[in-house]
Amino acid sequence: MKYIRHLLDEKNRPVVAVAPTDTVQRALALLAEFNIGALVVLEKGKVVGIFSERDFARKVALPGKSFLATSIREVMSDHVFYVTPSQTVEECMAIMTDRRIRHLPVVDETQKLLGIISIGDLVKEVISHQAFQIEQLERYITG
Ligand SMILES: NC(=O)c1ccc[n+]([C@@H]2O[C@H](COP(=O)([O-])OP(=O)(O)OC[C@H]3O[C@@H](n4cnc5c(N)ncnc54)[C@H](O)[C@@H]3O)[C@@H](O)[C@H]2O)c1
Repeated sequence: MKYIRHLLDEKNRPVVAVAPTDTVQRALALLAEFNIGALVVLEKGKVVGIFSERDFARKVALPGKSFLATSIREVMSDHVFYVTPSQTVEECMAIMTDRRIRHLPVVDETQKLLGIISIGDLVKEVISHQAFQIEQLERYITG
């Protein structure tokens, strides 16, 4: 299994983030523009929350809150689960499964944000690892 640092090395897109004072409308525009499902919420360079499509559905759309008047601080998830680059893909899958989350910010030992890993990134890695193993086995059998 690979380490998260390897997945980050393969991704060359910066983390898309919002401020707690941004509006929900701004966050939705970013989610659409970058075709992603969650935004990291940054305040003075520190991760203070995550705002996902699920947060929007449950905390904004369902109660009928205003897109323009509601700030991200009011509706973000402020209990953030992190990982570090030295954790494995398997560990991250376990965290996502246990916590029922789909995005994990990656931070260093000083809590500096290094990237973000989504459930799709992990599934892609598992599939390519399995394809590699199958190829090796086929070569072994036919070789
Ligand atoms: N082929 C691929 O490389 C690949 C990788 C991941 C996801 N996907 C597909 O995209 C769809 C949705 O994926 P998902 O549910 O994992 O979530 P998602 O749509 O939020 O993530 C899609 C990609 O954007 C990245 N991303 C997410 N939030 C980001 C942010 N705030 N800043 C920077 N990058 C961010 C993720 O790491 C991932 O690589 C699924 O259909 C999945 O299979 C494909």
